[in-house]
Amino acid sequence: MKVPFGAMTITPHARDLVNKALDSTRVSGGQYVHEFEDRFAKLVGVRHAVALSSGTDADILAMAVLYDFGAHRGDEIIVPALSFVATGNAVLHAGFKPVFVDIKRETLNIDPEKIEAAITKKTRAIMPVHLMGKPAPMEAINAIAKKHKLFVIEDAAEAHGAVYKGKNVGLWSDMAAYSTYVAHIITTIEGGIVTTNREDFAEILRSLRAHGRACKCDVCVVNTNSGYCAKRFKYGKDIRFVFERVGYSAKMNELEAAIGLGSLTLYHKIIEKRRHNLLTMIERLKEFDQYLTTIEEEKDERIGPHAFPIVVKEGAPFTRDEFVSFLEKNGIDSRDLFSSMPTQCPGFSFLGYKLGDFPNAEFMGTQGLHIGVHQDINDEHIDYVMDTIRAFLKSQ
Ligand SMILES: Cc1ncc(COP(=O)(O)O)c(C=O)c1O
Repeated sequence: MKVPFGAMTITPHARDLVNKALDSTRVSGGQYVHEFEDRFAKLVGVRHAVALSSGTDADILAMAVLYDFGAHRGDEIIVPALSFVATGNAVLHAGFKPVFVDIKRETLNIDPEKIEAAITKKTRAIMPVHLMGKPAPMEAINAIAKKHKLFVIEDAAEAHGAVYKGKNVGLWSDMAAYSTYVAHIITTIEGGIVTTNREDFAEILRSLRAHGRACKCDVCVVNTNSGYCAKRFKYGKDIRFVFERVGYSAKMNELEAAIGLGSLTLYHKIIEKRRHNLLTMIERLKEFDQYLTTIEEEKDERIGPHAFPIVVKEGAPFTRDEFVSFLEKNGIDSRDLFSSMPTQCPGFSFLGYKLGDFPNAEFMGTQGLHIGVHQDINDEHIDYVMDTIRAFLKSQ
């Protein structure tokens, strides 16, 4: 049996929209992108969403908004040490310095008790990550941010559908950044989106995704049908060629948005199926708790079912890589549970951290993995995964 890590469902509706987009005169950002933004915003429960070319861009542009609000290049952003490397890369590409804080092993998320010690005069924002769709401790994070007058940006790349204390993830901060990459619940194949309740943030995000230009409209008439734009020359100069800030080229296109709109029609079904898979796997892994552990869903949260993390406990008579290699040989696809960005990603060595600075993140970097919980996984696959784990442990 094969248990792939990810799956993607392209609905007939999405195919139809893709064909319509191809038949139209413009395939760069237009009506479908706008519709996708609208529907994504409604799903999260916010006023605005700005669609982008990737989740990494969503992180980068959300941070770059802060330059309009007193931040300077080289200022600091606090992020957890454990995340997919895109989180740390994004801080650097946005022009900030990442300041890493260790995680809690039980939650995989930033340890709120360690945040204050990392705050300096240069700190501008905290960017928690809801890793594996498990909500970060937003109440504690927001209390710290309020005390120190910091912005909060949620890296919700993996947290579609997650709920924390009765309120959707994405509603706990100034902006939330999502990835709509192929392995994620709502997908545009490649893509990302930032949600916010603030109109001024949304306008700046639209400017940033299009090279920093002065245009602020949520749908560009020039882009959609090469129509006449009354605002373009209103101020004496062509505002499309006035560049107000250092921008990016990070727009979503109509074909991606068409796939996204198709994916949204399946959203509730996909979430339900993935949650069933995730919660079943969490429960069934308890059989192996001598050597393996995972996250728990706490009473006041709903995990966004991104994937199923497994952590090889300290003292186990085998390594994570031996375990992974057995799973892979038996057709069960897996990924590492990322790594401590500052100390286990060679690309970050110039920042000067040393191994041992983030023991919990580093532990996950050597002991953790994650496997799929996607909509094409059924109870038979879960039985097979558990049988395979049992066989591996027996052989030790
Ligand atoms: C936590 C986190 N942040 C950011 C990203 C970046 O998203 P993308 O791959 O769409 O650029 C990912 C990717 O899945 C992620 O897991």
